[in-house]
Amino acid sequence: MEKDLSNYRKSYEKKELLESTISDNPMQLFQTWFHEVDTHYDEGENNAMTISTMGLDGYPKSRVVLLKKFTHEGFIFYTNYESEKGKAITNNPNVCLSFFWYQAERQVIIKGKAERISETMSDGYFESRPRGSQLGASVSHQSEIVENREVLEEKLKQLEAKYEGKEIPRPSYWGGFIVKPVEIEFWQGRANRLHDRIRFKLDDDYNWQMDRLSP
Ligand SMILES: Cc1cc2nc3c(=O)[nH]c(=O)nc-3n(C[C@H](O)[C@H](O)[C@H](O)COP(=O)(O)O)c2cc1C
Repeated sequence: MEKDLSNYRKSYEKKELLESTISDNPMQLFQTWFHEVDTHYDEGENNAMTISTMGLDGYPKSRVVLLKKFTHEGFIFYTNYESEKGKAITNNPNVCLSFFWYQAERQVIIKGKAERISETMSDGYFESRPRGSQLGASVSHQSEIVENREVLEEKLKQLEAKYEGKEIPRPSYWGGFIVKPVEIEFWQGRANRLHDRIRFKLDDDYNWQMDRLSP
């Protein structure tokens, strides 16, 4: 089996990223980019991001999760703390987040440290979720082997019956992580592969240092 993809090629020409026109605070710039993408482009799920962790088996692993909030402190997503990624983060909190906004020809790559958010905050978000998602989180022991789909469907039915007319409690193994950034790179596709790359790095005094990187 073989497929040659060498002719897949796209020129990026929509935007530019210049030091003179951007904030010197990367969280501010992230907010600007997110707003622009949300307002002017339809990326499907603009808040979908890839998170890479260093696994207990020594391999990095990446998968998509949904960004649910960002503040000046960092980026928050929700998951199962006992999933493969949950265990990986407990063992090594250094993670990498990345966004690829195809329509805007933009990429953002964030290195940072993940830590659990407060139980109160996880409770608040869990309560705001639709009932189906709450039950799903309770049914699924994410990343564990399951015999077949029927086992999950059956468990869902049982929980539906158990909690009929009642509030569904947040499982203790489910909650949020905040990724506090140490480095954020903004990538804007440009013509002739001379893309713009601006990287912000936290220095020892917790100030952001801005540098342009060669594409
Ligand atoms: C668009 C999309 C959004 C997703 N959002 C989440 C999420 O917010 N939280 C989550 O735990 N998994 C989410 N997933 C599923 C993860 O990609 C992954 O399959 C799951 O978290 C188990 O990963 P792990 O076994 O590496 O821990 C999403 C997948 C896709 C494709």
